Amino acid sequence: MMPSTIYKLHFILLVHTIVLLAVNAAPESQSLSCWLVEDIPGTETKPRSIQHTPVLIQFTDASGLTHTSPLTADPDTLILYVFDPSGKLSPDFTSCEITHHLPQETSLDWARSLTEEKRSPPSLGKTWYTVAARNEQDGRGVSFVLGPLGDKKDHFSVSLAVYSVSTIHAQLGKPLTIPCGMWRGHQPRFAVEWRHRAMGLGSLLYAYDGWKDKVEEHVPNCHLNFSALHSDGDASLLIENVDTSLEGTLLCTGYLPYLRAQREIQMVVTGKPQVTLQPSPLFARPGEEVTLTCDVSHFHPLEISVDFFVQLSGEPHPTLLSGSSLSAHTHNQDGTYSITAYQYMVASSDLNGARYICKVNHVSAPKGISASRTLKVAGVSAPSLEDIMYLFLTALVLYGTLSYLRRKAISLFGNQPDLKPQKNKSE
Ligand SMILES: *[C@@H]1O[C@H](CO)[C@@H](O)[C@H](O)[C@H]1NC(C)=O
Repeated sequence: MMPSTIYKLHFILLVHTIVLLAVNAAPESQSLSCWLVEDIPGTETKPRSIQHTPVLIQFTDASGLTHTSPLTADPDTLILYVFDPSGKLSPDFTSCEITHHLPQETSLDWARSLTEEKRSPPSLGKTWYTVAARNEQDGRGVSFVLGPLGDKKDHFSVSLAVYSVSTIHAQLGKPLTIPCGMWRGHQPRFAVEWRHRAMGLGSLLYAYDGWKDKVEEHVPNCHLNFSALHSDGDASLLIENVDTSLEGTLLCTGYLPYLRAQREIQMVVTGKPQVTLQPSPLFARPGEEVTLTCDVSHFHPLEISVDFFVQLSGEPHPTLLSGSSLSAHTHNQDGTYSITAYQYMVASSDLNGARYICKVNHVSAPKGISASRTLKVAGVSAPSLEDIMYLFLTALVLYGTLSYLRRKAISLFGNQPDLKPQKNKSE
């Protein structure tokens, strides 16, 4: 081996060692700031109130040991030492709220089998919490149930975690997977439930008892992947065909014996509009008043803007036109909307060749959707290539017709013997 190679290898090893040491010696911040939200019942002297207490969640290992230096929080802050076997607790959550969790039996059909043993562990009598944490940047959110870890009052362990994104944009008429994961440790007794809520009305979409492996309820359009659920805790809801009735909030709930955790997912159903611009073709005489009609149909949701632009021939960019008007929207049977926009204009010879554009801005199409027509003003244009071809074709057809008529006339009135048999042959 060349000495220089050995030297290089040594150097690489040294760099690796330094990097490894650095990673181990300075773990990223291993804590998460939260608020404990408590409902304080009213007394004779004080009305009922909501109390917010600052909390610092300090991550620990299974034995309750922390790997960072002791925390220096102010004395009002409650410190909770949390062991997270789910791996879903992270210091990068931007919002975090803690509430008391009351372990209890559930009377729902799909969760009843979870507690049929009637042997509730004594730990259920201790303090339990629900932690709802979110990362506002990427929309990730997790709902945790924290249960007691060992005998120390401020040590907890994640017992259940349900995680998902917070918002979904779904395309009308397309299949969709609404992600939701459930971490449950080694607990074989579990259930999953999906609900939909919109404008105060709720409905059950799916209910599955994982312990009995039984689908208790489901609407025809929705499915779960059972193998993915049992092996990886993937409780995502698979929807065959998105329609506007899904708009609203979807609730993914995971049940363990006496425990539950839930994530809310906002659904925005988007339908891309079809845009057509009339009249087509766009011909006018100089001085003629023309109303451009832009039909925008079958879109969802309702928020939309429609603008008209004109680009004169030779101009590099279109210019926004003012004075357009919008019809009232119609609500179609499939839940989508349609609307019509109008733009009035007077044709003139200098507008010949101008391109009129109707541009629609809608959440379903980030770049917008346009339709355009080119205005032809009568009596202005020199014959274009198309016109020339049209004239040529007309001349050709005329020539063909005339020569046919001529032959017909000759065969009828003339007495040319060589034409007769030819005609018979073709019949
Ligand atoms: C179900 O999930 C498994 C992974 O666990 C995957 O291989 C399979 O393709 C999924 N089935 C369907 C129908 O999506």
